[in-house]
Amino acid sequence: MTTFRRFRNTDPPALADVWNEAHTARGAYPLRTPALLERWVLGKPYFDHDGLIVAEDDGRVQGYALAGFAPTPELDALSFADGVVCSVAVRPGDRRKGVGRGLVEQCEAYLVRKGARTLRAGPVWPQCPFGFGLYGGTNCPGFLASDPDADPFFRSQGYAPAGQTFVFQKKLDQPLTAADARFGLLRRRYETQILRAAAVPSWWHECVWGTLDPVEFRLVDKLANNLPAARAVVWELEGYGWRWGFPSAGILDIQVRDDLRRQGLAKLLISQILRFLQDQFFGICEVQAPADRPELVALCRAAGLDQVDVGTTYTKPVPEGMQVPLSRPTGWTPVSLGL
Ligand SMILES: CC(C)(COP(=O)(O)OP(=O)(O)OC[C@H]1O[C@@H](n2cnc3c(N)ncnc32)[C@H](O)[C@@H]1OP(=O)(O)O)[C@@H](O)C(=O)NCCC(=O)NCCS
Repeated sequence: MTTFRRFRNTDPPALADVWNEAHTARGAYPLRTPALLERWVLGKPYFDHDGLIVAEDDGRVQGYALAGFAPTPELDALSFADGVVCSVAVRPGDRRKGVGRGLVEQCEAYLVRKGARTLRAGPVWPQCPFGFGLYGGTNCPGFLASDPDADPFFRSQGYAPAGQTFVFQKKLDQPLTAADARFGLLRRRYETQILRAAAVPSWWHECVWGTLDPVEFRLVDKLANNLPAARAVVWELEGYGWRWGFPSAGILDIQVRDDLRRQGLAKLLISQILRFLQDQFFGICEVQAPADRPELVALCRAAGLDQVDVGTTYTKPVPEGMQVPLSRPTGWTPVSLGL
């Protein structure tokens, strides 16, 4: 009979086994060592044993689910009102027996007990306490269509789609041909610089990106004292290369100065990054674009990237019987973890 319990310090090897059996699609990579769970999950300052639920049958781990909280709008502390189910995995031989459902119910009970007023499933930036680095690729796109069980499963648990993120990739083992008539003039004025990414912008970036060591690509205006005109952060998608068969990199956070938009600068920056990555023998570059950012989606297409997947994030109202009145003491204290 399946029983559910909180995480124990001895669980990581069994959790890595479940992960490797359950996550066989393109959006996740095999965990060759449980230390990767330490890096991307257990080592987070807000990791809570109660939020990682383990399902077992007579001592054998069947699956697990991981829940956490989104940040405040200022990205400087957790918002206990916003609960997120970040991951659910059940060994293939234990599926369709209600184990996944039980795990999600346990996550929901945990989140509501701690104060959640909204429930989300499928981490997307910034509602992504866990997931980045292990699942989803360059960023947190929600649950991917390439994991075909996820959508019917979460819908059956009462979750409804609340946003999509398109996943674009460029294969770099072939010649790059992103020609644009504007590039000649732009290249004369803007120079590409590659720097170690500056200090992370917020406590939340620090938590989510963790030990990442990204580089920043900049286009600077040679006619204006090298004033930055556009920037993007690039990181090596370490584990994903094993799954995809090529060393891979991802572009995060592309920004062009407001007054310089619609001139081809972002497209030029992406083409420079692709060329650089190709020279460094990377085989794949990935960019993710939320569906409600049409300018970013159009940019990815214009830069010659192909859509390879789509992620969905889901939300669900807190079920009536579970709601905890705000005024009632609930046994928890919201703790600000801000710097
Ligand atoms: C998604 C997953 C966790 C579901 O686990 P599970 O234990 O098989 O789920 P349950 O048995 O509790 O299913 C509950 C309901 O979900 C729905 N459901 C689950 N899997 C489904 C599938 N493959 N197709 C259609 N509906 C499905 C059904 O309505 C099911 O109820 P039913 O069996 O009475 O018809 C499991 O398939 C899995 O580990 N997949 C790989 C990892 C993954 O994609 N995780 C999500 C992204 S992190």
